[in-house]
Amino acid sequence: MIRKCLFPAAGYGTRFLPATKSMPKEMLPIVNKPLIQYGVEEARDAGLQHMAIVTGRGKRALEDHFDISYELEHQIRGTDKENFLNGTRELMDTCTFSYTRQVEMKGLGHAILSGRSLIGDEPFAVVLADDLCLNLDGDGVLTQMIKLYKQFRCSIVAIQEVPMDQTSKYGIIAGEQIREGIYRVNSMVEKPQPEDAPSNLAIIGRYILTADIFDLIEDTEPGKGGEIQITDALMKQAQNGCVLAYKFQGTRFDCGGAEGYIAATNFCYESLYKQGL
Ligand code: G1P
Repeated sequence: MIRKCLFPAAGYGTRFLPATKSMPKEMLPIVNKPLIQYGVEEARDAGLQHMAIVTGRGKRALEDHFDISYELEHQIRGTDKENFLNGTRELMDTCTFSYTRQVEMKGLGHAILSGRSLIGDEPFAVVLADDLCLNLDGDGVLTQMIKLYKQFRCSIVAIQEVPMDQTSKYGIIAGEQIREGIYRVNSMVEKPQPEDAPSNLAIIGRYILTADIFDLIEDTEPGKGGEIQITDALMKQAQNGCVLAYKFQGTRFDCGGAEGYIAATNFCYESLYKQGL
């Protein structure tokens, strides 16, 4: 079964400069919790215990976040402030964290390939932490996708409908709907202009990938933007076998930019923080 979750987290976060000049974008807080922690919690809630994080230069804060801070913890011991660390502590107690560095930034496909030594030869999940996905009324998005994986045993991408003028921000799929909200992918294009987009179904930052994806990425030439795209490797997988696209239940915030970040902050403040969640 799926045990591991890969977090590509080496990107520069240029849309958030200067905040991300010396701080990883995955450490940006949504109210009082960094984005990476929301992602790890979603993975843990889906039953995944091994977090594999692909970092890069200047990303040390990510490793420190999931580690003990002796001085701080000593200072607040016995006060009610200790409770603020309970959530992080629980993750550290129930999950393992392993790290590798992506030395050169050559695209999301390349970032995922950089995590191969942490994953090995088994299916795994991928979370792009700046896509914050919440489903307060039911299962988290990864939980939904893992349920689907158990039935189909193939790679799955999460999708949502976007306005046609936004297709150039996403990988776009087209496919045959096999069940309500589930498509068998037959076309996949990275960031097409609206006139070239096969549909308005956009891939968002949640994937389940079977291990053969690594060899497919190795054989993938640089594509859009001169980068090695996971979308191109997945297209090959779809041609050789099967890739599903899944319209998930819940809300997704693009926290890599100001608008989505503010929307996520307002939503989490009202629906989680104020409720003491
Ligand atoms: C990446 C993928 C793209 C996907 C997006 C989701 O793009 O390449 O296919 O739609 O994540 O967030 P990025 O946003 O990293 O440029």
